Amino acid sequence: MTIQEYKADFQEKCSPHFSKEEIQSFWQWFNENLIRISDSPEVENNYTIWLRELMSGKPIQYIFGYSFFHKYCFEVTSDTLIPRPETEELCELILNQNTNTPLIGIDIGTGTGCIPITLLCERSNWEFKALDISKAALIVADTNTKKYQLSNRLELMNQNFLENNLSANNYDIIVSNPPYIHPNEIESLENRVTQFEPHMALFVTNNILEFYTALFDYFEQNTNPNAQLWMETHQDYCDDVVALFNKKFTAKKIEDLSKNPRFVYVVK
Ligand SMILES: C[S@@+](CC[C@H](N)C(=O)[O-])C[C@H]1O[C@@H](n2cnc3c(N)ncnc32)[C@H](O)[C@@H]1O
Repeated sequence: MTIQEYKADFQEKCSPHFSKEEIQSFWQWFNENLIRISDSPEVENNYTIWLRELMSGKPIQYIFGYSFFHKYCFEVTSDTLIPRPETEELCELILNQNTNTPLIGIDIGTGTGCIPITLLCERSNWEFKALDISKAALIVADTNTKKYQLSNRLELMNQNFLENNLSANNYDIIVSNPPYIHPNEIESLENRVTQFEPHMALFVTNNILEFYTALFDYFEQNTNPNAQLWMETHQDYCDDVVALFNKKFTAKKIEDLSKNPRFVYVVK
């Protein structure tokens, strides 16, 4: 088939299932990838598989194995969360606040590594560590680290942040987009999220503040004076996180672009 024939077939098959805007957006991914493999004898077979996956509700980023974030393109797999636009905003807030001062930081729950990789690409004199409980996610983070040639400034660690066995350190900045959804909310989430994204990245066990309480202790014990902590939160619990940190530090709530309370910025 020619690319125009693929496009016509794609539009016809997708129109009962998706909006015009979705079809236009999905077609860009298909178009790009059909062109990429156009010399392969498997092109028609791959097209059929991709289309079947799309119809099953699989997110387009998982079908093709990559996702755009900030100015960069990250490998994603079913073991990693698809990086969200709100998290791009978090990176922008951090970059706007911190220009050229050298900083040493850590990202807690790194997934694809999108947060520290973006920050390090934008600030050449920063160094980061990044940890995740998921070995499989760290393999993806490692691929992304190598892609952007950051292995000398980003150290990946396979650790459970909720266990008290992390080595002591003196960071200038801590960043975290931890799991923050209560299991009770599962019914209200979209199918493409609950069916395809790793539950370990989304859900807390029961206590909605469990990661923030651990972050409080870690921030208190492992940072320099004037250190910063930047967190993404659930919009319904953002005030609780601010109240928790204001017991000892100065914490501020920041809205995302949709005007939802989303981020908490803490100074030591
Ligand atoms: C919401 S995702 C964020 C991923 C990435 N930072 C982002 O913003 O796209 C949370 C991440 O925390 C990791 N995680 C969950 N529980 C953890 C734990 N106890 N210790 C360390 N990492 C954990 C998950 O594997 C997941 O990669």
